[in-house]
Amino acid sequence: MCGIVGYVGREEAGPILLDGLSRLEYRGYDSAGVAVYHPQVGLQVDKAKGRLQVLSDLLDGGKKIKGTLGLGHTRWATHGRPSDVNSHPQVSEDGLFAVVHNGIIENYSEIKEFLESKGVSFVSETDTEVVAQLLAYHYKGDLLEAVSKVLHRIRGAYALGILCADQPDRIVAARKDSPLILGRGDGFNMLASDVTAVIRYTRDVSYLDDGEIAQLTPNSVEVFDRYLRPVEKSVHHVDWEISAAEKGGYEHFMAKEIMEQPKAFRDTVSPRIQDGEIVLEGLNFDRAYLTSLDKVYIIACGSSYHVGMAGKYILEKLLRKPVEVALASEFRYCDPIVTDKTLALVISQSGETIDTLAALREAKRLGATVLSIVNVVGSTIARESDKVLYTWAGPEIAVATTKAYTTQLALVYLLALSCAKTLDSLSPEEYQELLRGFLRLPDKMEAILKHRDYIQYLASHYFNHSSIFFIGRNLDYAVGMEASLKLKEISYIHSEAYAAGELKHGTISLIEPGTLVIALAGYAPLFEKLVSNVVEVKSRGADVIGVTSAAQTGWLAPKVDAIIPLPDAHPLLLPSLEVLPMQLFAYYVALQRGCDIDKPRNLAKSVTVE
Ligand code: F6R
Repeated sequence: MCGIVGYVGREEAGPILLDGLSRLEYRGYDSAGVAVYHPQVGLQVDKAKGRLQVLSDLLDGGKKIKGTLGLGHTRWATHGRPSDVNSHPQVSEDGLFAVVHNGIIENYSEIKEFLESKGVSFVSETDTEVVAQLLAYHYKGDLLEAVSKVLHRIRGAYALGILCADQPDRIVAARKDSPLILGRGDGFNMLASDVTAVIRYTRDVSYLDDGEIAQLTPNSVEVFDRYLRPVEKSVHHVDWEISAAEKGGYEHFMAKEIMEQPKAFRDTVSPRIQDGEIVLEGLNFDRAYLTSLDKVYIIACGSSYHVGMAGKYILEKLLRKPVEVALASEFRYCDPIVTDKTLALVISQSGETIDTLAALREAKRLGATVLSIVNVVGSTIARESDKVLYTWAGPEIAVATTKAYTTQLALVYLLALSCAKTLDSLSPEEYQELLRGFLRLPDKMEAILKHRDYIQYLASHYFNHSSIFFIGRNLDYAVGMEASLKLKEISYIHSEAYAAGELKHGTISLIEPGTLVIALAGYAPLFEKLVSNVVEVKSRGADVIGVTSAAQTGWLAPKVDAIIPLPDAHPLLLPSLEVLPMQLFAYYVALQRGCDIDKPRNLAKSVTVE
């Protein structure tokens, strides 16, 4: 979603703002803009619809705009179509305030009407312009006081960057439900939607919390609550390398991130295996606690939800405890049955997804203990959870998630195995067999990735299909959901995932000669049932690609048009392998179709509006 960058210091702000925005491009956007202040020129605002490159060309990489403090923004349209005038920064009618905003001001029409009744004219269709105009209305010479008044009047979600031409030595930031970090430098300070925008300049960051206001000058960072009482913020050092957020020779971030999965898996798992035992930091779930649990409620969105779907099968099988999986956007409004004996397992790569965050708060309010699996260190979901397990996948830039999915799943396995051991719900032999098999997964992932040319060949054969079905049972069905999402989000091919046993209840009517069906047949206990479903769709003329483990290939191959063999693994562990060729298939199909793989249309990396 929208990206925000702010800079106040001694260097020319223009190039720094554009560079910061380029690091936030992955979040998804449709227009961009900057506001920079110079004592002789005043407030200069430049905005352009389309790619950041359009704005950058207009400003000669930022060199054409002079001044040492400013704000930059990439906009993902919510209120008002993408256009120059609706782009941010939005400026107040008196030209004093420039505002960039991520989120939605829910009561903007009511405030707009009020301001119009006072004679204020609006030029854009945005909710953000209301903030700029309201600031001008309340400003009586004290910037922070005006900001505080505005924050008391607006409702909704926001990360705000504010520049006031009357106070040209500072920028101000505020947040509620949308991420904002402060980058602390020597002789300069920055604000941004996430760390990737500032890491070239500083690795020392503070995370702004809900309701806080920050005032940044070149040499100071002050943070206040909404009543302007000072707040102490700690400074965190970011230690990942800048190269982790670059393409490293690959054509797309998605390709790089697919290939990084064995490493990301090892980085996530290795520190948690000590002397052959699973050690989950800070997690002291003893037998009495686990026995007392009434259920595990997994809450997430999108691909993280698909990890939860697989997680349900895994946790229920290993713990014999009821597990419910909920889409966060449904959970928050469904009056869920949660007690103080419920464990809410919240899964999120970004740690900022607004629906997931709201669901987390609801689960907490209802008494659940919240354990989250999160990739972005210091993100809001991580900070608000009772306990957090980080996936050490490194920054994920491609909109379509890959390495976050596999590392989230890895942590679900570790959690399930560790709890099963505590509960004695698995025999020691079964536990050891699963753990050994689990630790061999990254080598097997490498073997799959090595043969990616074959998947590329299959993609070149099938990329023209207009509709593709994924069928599977049990864990294969969970993987099918993820495979289908991956394909549709980056290749724009219509696709559905079906529990294979459901086909006869309606969907099979869509199968006609030439329809492509990808049959996920990894889960050995239900292999034969799945083969029957393959035969059903084959006899109605479908083209079928079968995916199964090496041991089962001989049985499936004669029944399908093409086969993707997977290294053998315990059936419960196979999803970690099965998903890889599906990511590659989606990637190569999208490549064949000439799609913008890292920035698929209409999508944003981090969904910070409801
Ligand atoms: C799909 C994808 C999304 C995210 C979803 C949740 O490839 O990336 O479906 O999984 O938006 O995001 P997080 O995990 O950041 O909460």
